[in-house]
Amino acid sequence: MSANAPLEPREDRPRLADREAVLALLCRYIAEAWRSFDEPRPEEPPVDVALAARLREPLPEEGVTPEEALDDAARVLDASVSPSRPLYLGYIGSTGLEVGVLGAALSAAYDVNLAVTAGGADLVERQALEWVASFVGFPHSFGAFTSGGMTSNLTALLAARERALPGARLRGLDGRRGAVYCSDEAHHSIMRAVEACGLGSDHLRRLPLDDLRRMRPGDLDAAIAADRRAGVTPVAVVANGGTTLTGAVDPLDQIADVCDRRGVWLHVDGAYGLPAAATASAGPLFAGLERADSATLDAHKWLGVQKACSVVLLRDGTALQDAFGHEERYLLHREGEPNAVDRTLEYSRPFRSARLWLAFRVHGAAAFRGYLDHTLALARRLVALLQDDPAFELLHRPQLSTVCFRHVPRAGLGLLDLNAHNRELALAVQADGRVYLAAAVVDEQVCLRVCFVNFRTRDDEIEHVVEVVRELGARLAGASYHPGEQQRT
Ligand SMILES: Cc1ncc(COP(=O)(O)O)c(C=O)c1O
Repeated sequence: MSANAPLEPREDRPRLADREAVLALLCRYIAEAWRSFDEPRPEEPPVDVALAARLREPLPEEGVTPEEALDDAARVLDASVSPSRPLYLGYIGSTGLEVGVLGAALSAAYDVNLAVTAGGADLVERQALEWVASFVGFPHSFGAFTSGGMTSNLTALLAARERALPGARLRGLDGRRGAVYCSDEAHHSIMRAVEACGLGSDHLRRLPLDDLRRMRPGDLDAAIAADRRAGVTPVAVVANGGTTLTGAVDPLDQIADVCDRRGVWLHVDGAYGLPAAATASAGPLFAGLERADSATLDAHKWLGVQKACSVVLLRDGTALQDAFGHEERYLLHREGEPNAVDRTLEYSRPFRSARLWLAFRVHGAAAFRGYLDHTLALARRLVALLQDDPAFELLHRPQLSTVCFRHVPRAGLGLLDLNAHNRELALAVQADGRVYLAAAVVDEQVCLRVCFVNFRTRDDEIEHVVEVVRELGARLAGASYHPGEQQRT
């Protein structure tokens, strides 16, 4: 560019005409959303007809004002199911901490490139890994922020595969066979990861559960020994740090004993449950976590930040590099130093850690422990209410913040198909809109599954949840509903 060349007008570039005004509008929409999360809504509003029609229009050749488009986006989102609402208790949601929105917006504005050296952002990634490891009591902070529990589990298993079957990333399995071990209720992402590792899901050993729905270390030991005898290499044991279905935490210490004795990589899938390791009430369930080779934690679940923000932690600082390290013509190493992408499965990655880092900075670890304890107490309260109530049946002994139960209407005894009744009841609760629950299946029994991970849910709302389910359940069963009566309806 010559010094005298006329400057191209940068105003032609896609820049918003009045940045401050649009930002102020965005702030108003965000503040409105936050206000709407303060209290439960009586129902979920539909998308209005005119907006729904616009959502079917083809790609526009000409744009509209950002205000107009933003207004539509805000209205679409207001008519979408948001896990941030206080009585969203289905699946595994998140609080959607306000501070996470600040982190997401700010980091999107800078859009740093974390595949290579990014400068200051690298320091935040490092510190956030250290903080999350120290929060849950995992003594190593090697690792990465990933797009979710699925990617974190896959990342850990690819590292484990390279350790157990060296050279597998280059030569493939080359006639070798490798197996992974987990409980029968491990998340499906483990199966998917085993498939993606090329091990074949037939080589995933899903071991039977004990009466707390946990893996039995004796069965694990026997399964590993049997594979070794058959010439199959044990690649990794995946222990649950809170199953998705019921929140069961496998006996990590005893599983670590087996892994030590047999020389097998131990991964803890704590995508949902691992934050509970930081609490006094549930922490003891995680004894042995410090002996694991790797662990997954989704900050977008029980640590309250927005999707997607998962963490994979590793004991060995070279394991990720062994699994992913490379040098390409377009990604040269600076003075022999690897790039960040030499330690991650993903290339382009958003600056996810900024959300968690800001959340820890603003709220502090003590507040997080308090929030987690609060949600654990909500589960205990629900269990206490259900246990004393003949209209409900608990389907397991909850360890964390997940409770599976079903409605058993007196009117339906012997007449109703309880599975069909509870499946319909979950849909009826969702259609009603006061509470959001989802159906699940425990031991072939369809039930309602509640997962408390939202820090906004209040203690005094648990009875309301039970009453909504009772009312809708009774209505479905065709029986009369008498508020306040605690009897089978
Ligand atoms: C225990 C467990 N592992 C893995 C996953 C997958 O996580 P993600 O949806 O973040 O990929 C989940 C999701 O609920 C989970 O509960």
